[in-house]
Amino acid sequence: METKHWVVDKHQHNLESYPQIIEAAALLQANEVVGFPTETVYGLGANALSDDAVAKIYEAKGRPSDNPLIVHISTMGQLYKIAEDISEQAERLIEKFWPGPLTLVLKRKENAVSKKVTAGLETVAVRMPSHPVALALITASGLPLAAPSANLSGKPSPTLAKHVADDLTGKIAGILDGGPTGVGLESTVLDCSGEVPIILRPGGITKEQLESVCGVVEVDKAILTDNEAPKSPGMKYKHYAPTAPLTIVNGSQGFIQSLVKEKQNEGLKVGVLTTTERENKYEADRVISCGSREQLETVASRLYGVLRQFDESGVDVIFSESFPSEGIGQALMNRLTKAAGHRIITE
Ligand code: TXA
Ligand code: MG
Repeated sequence: METKHWVVDKHQHNLESYPQIIEAAALLQANEVVGFPTETVYGLGANALSDDAVAKIYEAKGRPSDNPLIVHISTMGQLYKIAEDISEQAERLIEKFWPGPLTLVLKRKENAVSKKVTAGLETVAVRMPSHPVALALITASGLPLAAPSANLSGKPSPTLAKHVADDLTGKIAGILDGGPTGVGLESTVLDCSGEVPIILRPGGITKEQLESVCGVVEVDKAILTDNEAPKSPGMKYKHYAPTAPLTIVNGSQGFIQSLVKEKQNEGLKVGVLTTTERENKYEADRVISCGSREQLETVASRLYGVLRQFDESGVDVIFSESFPSEGIGQALMNRLTKAAGHRIITE
């Protein structure tokens, strides 16, 4: 299949009447699959009302079909067609954080979206993205769009259109290139279908931010420990992983350097994921900085791109520094730990 590539300037007004957006929207209406930017990561969108269209998403990504998708909307009217029994708490969160990187898991309305979207669950995950290109595409298509991250299943999520092209060229109808994404990690998934909201996946909106609006928020135990079954089906899969095995190291620069030497002595090429503070202090085959430790938002926004850079550099193993788990750090360490397949060494 030919994959079209359209470049769009997200700062333009009336994007929904741009020819690139109209062409992409027409393909969505024809039940084809299109990659598009959001403020978190690139998404792979398809008509959420069509079994055929949604099946194409799973096929292109090689995604297990028991892992449900998020429905992306651009108006509140679309929300009320898809979900019901929306709590007052959920309404307050919507008021505060939409459009933005917060996905709400809500009670699903019968037959409102394809069953393939919700993978047999009674709930549906919904989000209104804030990226102007995403909003324009949803509006121009007139459809709620089911959209997972636009990577091959198991690979780091895409933060540039190039990442989408690397993974999915030939497998999807087109890619809307709106430049680099913002947050760089996926949205927070919050289960609002019960009494107390539960974070199923930490992300762009932090626990602290959520609690400032609705009091106590719980965190799914599976995020904090290894031996609980996650409530969010997608969280059980190995994810975000670079090809070379990654290990997180809780320790000093000297300790990390000694691990690097050890591997090099075995004849392996070694990469180190670090920050600007220590970028010039390591001797390794490839040293990549994610930005300053003082600015975890920047580290988060660069993480997936850096993991892909390690893939391209051909290193055999990667050691990563560890980060504090507060604020956006919770989502950052969640993704890094998964990318590392839970391999962590402490000095
Ligand atoms: O930032 C994002 O959320 C990006 C952009 C493209 O919007 N999308 C994204 O989608 O990360 P995906 O498919 O890679 O992750 C969706 C997550 C999965 O962990 C899935 O299991 C969970 O949301 N999920 C979807 N529907 C659910 C439901 N009804 N109940 C619980 N978890 C659900
Ligand atoms: Mg994903």
